[in-house]
Amino acid sequence: MRINEPQVVAALPELGVELRPGASLAQMTSLGIGGTTDLLLVREHGHLPELLRLLDRHGIEHRFLGGGTNLLVCDGDLPWVVLQLARPEADMRLEGNSAHLHAAASLGRTVTFCAKHGLGGMEGLVGVPGTVGGALRMNAGAYGAQIGKFVREVELYRAASGRMEILKGARISFDYRHTSFAPGDIMLAVKLELPSKPYSEILQGIRICNEKRRSSQPLQEKSAGCIFKNPPGASAGRMIDELGLKGRAVGGARVSERHGNFFVNAGGATAEDMLALIAGVRERVGAAFGLELQNEVVIWQD
Ligand code: EPU
Repeated sequence: MRINEPQVVAALPELGVELRPGASLAQMTSLGIGGTTDLLLVREHGHLPELLRLLDRHGIEHRFLGGGTNLLVCDGDLPWVVLQLARPEADMRLEGNSAHLHAAASLGRTVTFCAKHGLGGMEGLVGVPGTVGGALRMNAGAYGAQIGKFVREVELYRAASGRMEILKGARISFDYRHTSFAPGDIMLAVKLELPSKPYSEILQGIRICNEKRRSSQPLQEKSAGCIFKNPPGASAGRMIDELGLKGRAVGGARVSERHGNFFVNAGGATAEDMLALIAGVRERVGAAFGLELQNEVVIWQD
């Protein structure tokens, strides 16, 4: 989608927004799949409510992009513009056991930054790609750590009120890859409270998780992490593996040989390829195990 309304284009700089016409979502997502649209890079989130009202008034549909690491975007000319928060230079600050983080900060860098200052608990999250905001929305987790456990306060734009608000952590529910945020809510900043730990101990935990991840996940390939949520008490990756579906491909989309729940873009994959692969694997697992796998990956379709 292109923003053609001169009134909107003219208002963007005052709202702290940089317009990048014809941005490629394939270049902004870890899967390397997705069509093109205008990107609005939000450098000053204080004006977000005004920006969203402006887009609404002109009937310009929008989607909000985090780090693009858990996302499958459809192909072609996309029917919405994409908003993304620009990462400020000062994106993290510590105060005692509290970490104040901008939503566009990298999750991995946050874990190592906190570790260097003797704050632990998030060791398992070190290799999870993406931003702090994306991790918050999905309640990202790995190797026993989930970000939600440490959240004390979230600053966000609330779709319901059209305003920015600060929510106490206790008012947010964080479940397995699911939170109580509404679909239109936009994460802006978060305050985490982390336990003190000696750096050497945190580093050891980080090394162990990194090693486990390196040995079981296709880190060198383009993927969106796990495609399906794990059903209660089971592993989707193991089920897919047991059915001999590793290596199964549709066009350039392929089930990883290393981990059955990672679907990789082995070269030139389209969203259509990936969606067909997801549907095919879901059907095979359903027929064999009598359950319907739920997507973990977020899908942006028309
Ligand atoms: N397994 C297989 N074959 C496979 C994959 C896994 O036999 O192809 C077996 C493993 O050997 C292990 C069990 O299944 O015994 C579980 O595998 P793993 O430890 O890799 O964990 P997972 O349940 O497949 C979950 C998360 C990952 C997270 C890891 C580590 C989900 C959907 N996945 O994977 O998160 O990194 O645990 O904590 O919850 C993500 O969210 O995108 C993601 C990758």
